[in-house]
Amino acid sequence: MCGIVGYVGNKNAQDFLISGLKRLEYRGYDSAGIVTLNGKGRATLLKVKGKISGLETKVAKNKTTDKIGIGHTRWATHGEPSELNAHPHKSGKIYLVHNGIIENYKELKAKLKSSHKFVSETDTEVLVALVNHFYSDGKYPLSNAVVQALKLVHGTYGIAVVSELNPNEIVVARSGSPLVIGIGNNETLIASDASALVGHTKKAIYLNDGEVATVTADSIEIKTLNSQPVSAKVEAIQTDLSAIQKGGYDHFLLKEIMEQPSSLTETLRGRINREEHLVHLGGPKLSDEELKSIKHLIIVGCGTAYHAGVLASYYIEQFTPDISIEPVMASEYRYRHAHVPENSVALIVSQSGETADTLACLRDLKAQGVKTIGIINAIGSTIAREVDGGTYIHAGPEISVASTKAFTSQAVAMIMFGLTVAEAKGVKNSLLAPYIDEIANLPKAIEKLLKNAPESVKNLAKRYKKYDHAIFLGRDVAYPIALEGALKLKEISYIDANAYPAGELKHGPLALVDDRFFEFVFLPENNLYDKTVSGIQEVLARGGHVIVITDADDFSLPVESVVKITTKMKIFTPILMNLVAQLFAYYITVAKNYNVDQPRNLAKSVTVE
Ligand code: AGP
Repeated sequence: MCGIVGYVGNKNAQDFLISGLKRLEYRGYDSAGIVTLNGKGRATLLKVKGKISGLETKVAKNKTTDKIGIGHTRWATHGEPSELNAHPHKSGKIYLVHNGIIENYKELKAKLKSSHKFVSETDTEVLVALVNHFYSDGKYPLSNAVVQALKLVHGTYGIAVVSELNPNEIVVARSGSPLVIGIGNNETLIASDASALVGHTKKAIYLNDGEVATVTADSIEIKTLNSQPVSAKVEAIQTDLSAIQKGGYDHFLLKEIMEQPSSLTETLRGRINREEHLVHLGGPKLSDEELKSIKHLIIVGCGTAYHAGVLASYYIEQFTPDISIEPVMASEYRYRHAHVPENSVALIVSQSGETADTLACLRDLKAQGVKTIGIINAIGSTIAREVDGGTYIHAGPEISVASTKAFTSQAVAMIMFGLTVAEAKGVKNSLLAPYIDEIANLPKAIEKLLKNAPESVKNLAKRYKKYDHAIFLGRDVAYPIALEGALKLKEISYIDANAYPAGELKHGPLALVDDRFFEFVFLPENNLYDKTVSGIQEVLARGGHVIVITDADDFSLPVESVVKITTKMKIFTPILMNLVAQLFAYYITVAKNYNVDQPRNLAKSVTVE
């Protein structure tokens, strides 16, 4: 997704725009730009291909004292990353930044060709030309022109618009892409994510879909597209500055891996009664009767969130005898004609709470009358505000594109939800107690692993950085860990890593084993241990370069590398093993000198299809 910022007030607009874009750069970072207005008819438009640092250099050479402006950091959808395609886009006296996709931009562009000379390949330039068409150089209020234009648009947008003819107001609007209005002293700040407002204000208004706001330094007027006034709900921004800074680590990714003892502690806070072996989640807003009646659980997510759902499904099945569980990839599920059985509940899993595919599934399931429960990290996010109920995972802001602490907290939060269902269904406490005890001990177990593992994993990673291909293997509860480990490695080191259930090897993937590959095997000491050992032997017999992560004391096969996990955990060792895979991906990427926190082609939150 792209990052949007805006400023109108009594301070230097360029300063906030640049600092805000740097906070949002993790959300999309292939090009960037800002425009500021001096209020006397001069606009300073600066754009770059590449990182915000390049824009910062340009701003330093074109410093202004302007007090109003907008900015954007881009994750390209229409048109390659280039200075020409970077936002803000201009038409007449109007400048516009946009996050989303205008699906009918081609037909709109055809109608505007006579009145606007197009210079970029973007759908956004079509939108600014359409606004200008209705603005007709200031004959009509800017907000009216924006509304008229948006009524013709199909697709998603989060936009900020300024005009040289009205240099004291910013018009913002959203449908499907988030926008937050920060309320300051004689200043109003705009951002696509509250993290850009931290340190500037504690008060924010989260715009809703279909709303348009006109903001000045000291006023905010919100209306619907049908000109119905909206009374704004001012909310507190709960993030503090330290949560969005590296805190002494080289990268956000390492910080977020290492802070999992505390982030998981926050996920559990107030939700586990160890003495009575009970779990309590207030957010889902489901009565015991409703919990008891659940027969089918759909778990919806993308990427890491999906993997967390797969992992949770394996565990929940172990202690809820009469529930079928269906983890689904949102991008696929939204277009399926899946039958949703009676007594279904849907867990909607998303770290950012803005992922377009997941949001689309949420809306479809709600339309079918399915109760939706959010498992979300970003407070106040779109999904968090649209689910029927939910559990915030409270893992703190996750800045690095590769999701790590959110996975652990999402999986545990879903397992806790499953435990509340089991409790409501009268499942014996003696069956649930071991799960609850281990969950309560998990932060400590993670802390112990993170104290002992990093150095050995760092040395291991250096030995495998030259490979271009990898196979990740696991069975049962270790299979979703293999999926997640492969995703982590591929998305930051660009090694072609793919995961397979260990039992599937002989059905095809075994043909891949040769010196181009290494194999990363998760081997928990559980009822399937021997089966997975057989799989390892199949790979060794074909000359595989095998790395094994295990908690077993007696593992002795002649593999290339073993990472031994010493722990009292018996049930949730796969969650500990996942941290080894996170560290492995991190250290390989550092060894390859790639961009750990902002890998190529990706963005932190994908608010477009
Ligand atoms: C995971 O490391 C990736 N960044 C990506 O797969 C991510 O998990 C996915 O886009 C879902 O994001 P969400 O949790 O914010 O919905």
